[in-house]
Amino acid sequence: MPQHPPLAPLVPLADGNAIPQVGYGMYKVPAADATRLALAAIDAGYRHLDTAALYGNEAEAGAAVRAAPVARDELFVTSKVWNDDHGYDEALRAFDVAMERFGLERLDLYLIHWPVPSRDRYVDTWRALIRLRDEGRVSSIGVSNFHVHHLERIVGETGVTPVVNQVELHPWLPQAELRAAHERMGIRTEAWSPLARGRVLATPLLDAIAAKHGRSPAQVVLAWHVHLGNIVIPKASSPERIRENVDVFDVKLDADDLAALATLESGERTGRDPDDD
Ligand SMILES: NC(=O)c1ccc[n+]([C@@H]2O[C@H](COP(=O)([O-])OP(=O)(O)OC[C@H]3O[C@@H](n4cnc5c(N)ncnc54)[C@H](OP(=O)(O)O)[C@@H]3O)[C@@H](O)[C@H]2O)c1
Repeated sequence: MPQHPPLAPLVPLADGNAIPQVGYGMYKVPAADATRLALAAIDAGYRHLDTAALYGNEAEAGAAVRAAPVARDELFVTSKVWNDDHGYDEALRAFDVAMERFGLERLDLYLIHWPVPSRDRYVDTWRALIRLRDEGRVSSIGVSNFHVHHLERIVGETGVTPVVNQVELHPWLPQAELRAAHERMGIRTEAWSPLARGRVLATPLLDAIAAKHGRSPAQVVLAWHVHLGNIVIPKASSPERIRENVDVFDVKLDADDLAALATLESGERTGRDPDDD
């Protein structure tokens, strides 16, 4: 009998691969704790780790994958090319350096972290990711923090559509228009800061819904993401919270809950607008 809740469902991607719907987000997980906490996540039933060159814990994430009592093929590892490495040759080099740090043969998903329109090099970066995918060094490629016009540009110039767009998304910023565009384009929506960095959890309305379901406010917000069909990557610093955040698939929100959650929309971002860089 597994000691963890049922595994997160696998969400099919347009390229034929599939991604576990819940992953462990590793931004601000200190390198000294990262292997231990990533292993705690795997022990809790996560099969998906989300890191980036920026986070300074790719090596520790890779160590967790190598040490895990789960086959490599059952784990899904995402990383991201950082803003300093935009450009074709630069991104290829950054990938090599990242893989050296991971100590892995293959990555499951590689993303452009931000479009950085002021540098205007993200189309070349995208061409580098296409090459890495064609060479089989990464199974799937996508982007992060892309507005619709950035998505349309890379698809228009290369003919290749990213399989995911990882964007800020939580009850304050539900991103309905962007999600509809993703739906039209065959792109999966992946929600970063799904708990608005924990800040949305203090909302009294969430306490009431949580009490009604006998769950925590974080579980209510994550169940809302699952209801929307988002891939979701909450970060937490304790094995207890890590476990709590993946145990959400049996929380069934009703129409009243969803209507109440919709009132939280304020448009507030916890991070930058991607067009401001
Ligand atoms: N692509 C991008 O540009 C981008 C940007 C930001 C984030 N991300 C990704 O998204 C992931 C998640 O985003 P995030 O880390 O910014 O924010 P988040 O997951 O929305 O929130 C994390 C915060 O919520 C708290 N928390 C987590 N679970 C909780 C629970 N069950 N009960 C109470 N509090 C809880 C955490 O506290 P403790 O840590 O103290 O447990 C932490 O302060 C990142 O780790 C990263 O992988 C991507």
